[in-house]
Amino acid sequence: MEHLINAKVKNIEISGIRKFFNLVAGTEDMISLTIGQPDFPTPFHVKAAGIKAIEENFTSYTHNAGTLELRRAAAQFVKEKYQLHYNPETEIITTVGASEAIDITFRTILAEDSEVILPGPVYPGYEPIIRLCGAKPVYADTTTNQFRLSAEIIANYITDKTRCIVLPYPSNPTGASLTKEELTEIAALVKEKEIFIVADEIYSELVYEREHFSIGTILKEKAIIINGLSKSHSMTGWRVGFIFAPEIIAKHILKVHQYNVSCATSISQIAALEALTNGKNDAHEMKEEYLKRRDYMYMRLKKMKLNVVKPDGAFYFFVKLPSQYENSFEFALALVEQARVAVVPGSAFSPIGEGYVRLSFAYSMETIREAMDRMEQFFLTSI
Ligand SMILES: Cc1ncc(COP(=O)(O)O)c(C=O)c1O
Repeated sequence: MEHLINAKVKNIEISGIRKFFNLVAGTEDMISLTIGQPDFPTPFHVKAAGIKAIEENFTSYTHNAGTLELRRAAAQFVKEKYQLHYNPETEIITTVGASEAIDITFRTILAEDSEVILPGPVYPGYEPIIRLCGAKPVYADTTTNQFRLSAEIIANYITDKTRCIVLPYPSNPTGASLTKEELTEIAALVKEKEIFIVADEIYSELVYEREHFSIGTILKEKAIIINGLSKSHSMTGWRVGFIFAPEIIAKHILKVHQYNVSCATSISQIAALEALTNGKNDAHEMKEEYLKRRDYMYMRLKKMKLNVVKPDGAFYFFVKLPSQYENSFEFALALVEQARVAVVPGSAFSPIGEGYVRLSFAYSMETIREAMDRMEQFFLTSI
């Protein structure tokens, strides 16, 4: 029966991250710097709210867009933190993680043959959905601009078919986050064009040394803002995300969401309400710790003479491999075999990521130190 499977689905491959993981799983004494989720537990008060929700039988369907109380809390949170203004009654949808937000957004706005501009390298969660929609991903090379997608770069890739530009900032895998000035230039470029902006701001609470700036403050009419609690509150398994979009867009996305999942998990919604009201600054402590790790790792990578850009946010380094290593998958395999350190091959983040590897610092200082020692030794003996 396999020949009857939808061809678009057949053509999707499992992510390069997963492929690599499957290959090296079970290697003994391996230190992994591969993970893309916080290494902190969900804050206690948030977990307690979830437990209480179960005990009090808050276990039924909610409004499709999430409880109004939660949407009000989300509206207040993004207003206080990022000066965004969204009406909780009509412009906010609670989703099953940012992942569902990405899925239903693309399915709402893309048609066959639409082109979607993405920065390359980029998080691998967009391309398969774009392809399922019959649309085409177009990767804009950011490697010559310190991984920063600029209006100038985007302009080279815009055609009559461009329907959407994806702006993930801070970025997974590069940690680059766009500034107010850069976003203002991008907004000016698309202002008169029939192009949506999908801003994936899931790492907005993890921007180091400056405030996060959201494009929703200057281009609300075209912007669909995706956010969630996975990274800010270390809640990846609770699956809570949000879409912020003008009513004329949100009302259509809501239909796709309704037929997709009905609503986000009721229990997780209660925990999310607690996180967004009594835990508004829960990310601060984690951010301080990530910052120390980032600076330490930066120092160590520089000492290894590697070409590396200091990330503005998130918890990743995207490191250029020395020129003798052309294939990032083979390099990552050799690093596991010879140094017992696992990193993610850059090719998992679009073809533009080839020649790089992603290192996560969502690990304890002790783990990072040991991994850096091993990597240093690897380069000393293999170059
Ligand atoms: C840029 C980016 N967007 C979205 C997601 C998915 O987030 P969620 O776990 O909330 O679905 C991730 C997860 O790693 C990510 O890195």
